[in-house]
Amino acid sequence: MPTLRGQQTSLRAMTRDDLTLLHRWLNDPDIMQWWDGRDHKASFDRVEARFRRSIENSDRESQRFMIEVDKDGVTRTIGMIQFSRLQPRAKNSQIDVLIGEPEYRDAGYGTDALRAALKHLFEDLKAHRVWHTMQAGNVRAQKSAEKIGFVREGVLREHDQVEGKYVDVVVFGMLRDEWLKQGP
Ligand SMILES: CC(C)(COP(=O)(O)OP(=O)(O)OC[C@H]1O[C@@H](n2cnc3c(N)ncnc32)[C@H](O)[C@@H]1OP(=O)(O)O)[C@@H](O)C(=O)NCCC(=O)NCCS
Repeated sequence: MPTLRGQQTSLRAMTRDDLTLLHRWLNDPDIMQWWDGRDHKASFDRVEARFRRSIENSDRESQRFMIEVDKDGVTRTIGMIQFSRLQPRAKNSQIDVLIGEPEYRDAGYGTDALRAALKHLFEDLKAHRVWHTMQAGNVRAQKSAEKIGFVREGVLREHDQVEGKYVDVVVFGMLRDEWLKQGP
C-alpha cells in the first residue's frame, strides 16, 4: 500500500502495533459518541478482529491508513482514515476519518488527511464520487467537510441508532470534476 502525503499529515499502512492505539481510541467516549456510540465497549480481541484484514492487506472491502504527523523531529500516530474500495460500476467510495489523539483535533490534521485521501481516490484510483457521512450533531466533522469543498447533499432522517436513540445523518459528496476544478 502506498504512503499518501498531505501537507501536514502522512497516511501509512496499518500494522499490528497500531492495535493498542486503535483499542484506546475505540473506547474513548469523545470519539465513540460520533462513531458506534459510547455504550459500545470494544475489547482488544474485537478490535483485532475488526482490523485484522487491514493489517494483513487482504481487505477487499475497504482500505485503512494510519494518520501520522511529524512535529519537532518526532513522528506521532494521531488517527485513522478509511475508505471503501471503489464500487465497480459507479466508481464511488465512502470515506471516514478519526483523529484519536485529542490534542491534535481542531488543528487541521483531520481535514488535511481527508484531502490526501481524496487526492489518491480521484487522481490515482479515478473515483467518480466520494461521499462522507456523519451524525447531524457532529458540527466539527461537517465544518471539516465544508472546508474541503464537499457539497452538503442532504439529511437522512433518523438513519442511524446511536446510544439507543435515532439520529439524523448528514450526507456530503464530492464529484471528480469538483475535485479537479479545485486545482493543486
Ligand atoms: C471530525 C474530525 C475528523 C475533524 O478533524 P480535525 O482535525 O479536528 O478538523 P479540523 O481542525 O480540520 O477542522 C475542524 C473545524 O471545526 C471547528 N469546530 C470544532 N468544534 C466545533 C463546534 N462545536 N462547532 C463549530 N465548529 C467547530 C474547528 O474550529 C475547525 O474549524 P476552523 O479550521 O475553521 O477553525 C476530528 O475532530 C475527530 O476525529 N473527531 C472525533 C471523531 C469524529 O467525529 N469523527 C468523524 C466521524 S464522521
